[in-house]
Amino acid sequence: MKFIGTTVAAIALTFSGLAFAESPATGDIEKGKEIASGVCAGCHNVDGNSAIPIYPILAGQEAGYTAKQLNDFKVVDGEETKRSSEIMAPMVAMLSADDMTNVAAYYAQQTPKAGVASDESLLEEGKRLYQGGNLEDDIPACSSCHSPNGQGIPPHYPRIDGQHPGYTFSQLHAFRQGTRKNDTNDAMQMIVSRMSEHEMKAVSEYIATLR
Ligand code: HEC
Ligand code: HEC
Repeated sequence: MKFIGTTVAAIALTFSGLAFAESPATGDIEKGKEIASGVCAGCHNVDGNSAIPIYPILAGQEAGYTAKQLNDFKVVDGEETKRSSEIMAPMVAMLSADDMTNVAAYYAQQTPKAGVASDESLLEEGKRLYQGGNLEDDIPACSSCHSPNGQGIPPHYPRIDGQHPGYTFSQLHAFRQGTRKNDTNDAMQMIVSRMSEHEMKAVSEYIATLR
């Protein structure tokens, strides 16, 4: 039984590895760069390394994940979206599906800069939560899905390493408030419903230091 389980896990890893390797190639990187250098650069920087803490770093994110986020922001026929943002909704309104794939492929090729914590006194606690969760409150270890170094497990689990702590905290909040509900099987919504404000802050600080 143990042997079979290991084999299945190995096959699953092989497939996700393939999806990751191939995704950047599916978009036109040159066309993507044109889009990124336009209006997007004002907040995310040309290479996706946003210098402003409230705007996420997009450099090095897996292309399929970025394209999914852009699609999730899009408001169609005035319907409620799975990820609502007053800032990003008008940004994606003018993008076609191809544009989204291209700009996502471009960002995936960029190298993310190292992140910095804004409150180092929370790092120890954040690390404990990230690596081991909190058994008492049934909070799973973040590392089980986002990997120990925060690089994620493509294509399903995004990389979160080195992200601005303020942005990560805002996303945990968004999952809690339901303004963001685009996570597979509600995994993130379930987890944040069990976390305290303090825990969300601490883990966001620790994630900023990961690489
Ligand atoms: C005025 C500032 C601004 C501009 C211009 C802008 N963005 Fe954003 N972007 C944001 C903010 C704020 C968020 C976080 C939204 C939220 O709260 O979920 C965001 C989120 C994103 C995300 C989700 C990242 C993640 O980790 O989930 C992507 C992808 C993205 N933007 C791409 C773009 C692209 C492509 C453009 C240009 C077409 C663009 N943005 C233009 C401010 C901006
Ligand atoms: C069971 C798997 C799982 C676990 C455990 C998990 N996550 Fe996630 N997380 C996800 C999935 C899936 C998404 C992507 C949602 C989507 O497709 O938009 C995500 C997205 C995120 C994002 C948004 C990234 C971005 O840039 O848009 C953050 C931040 C995050 N997780 C933080 C955490 C933290 C902190 C923990 C631990 C307390 C954690 N996650 C534990 C599955 C998980």
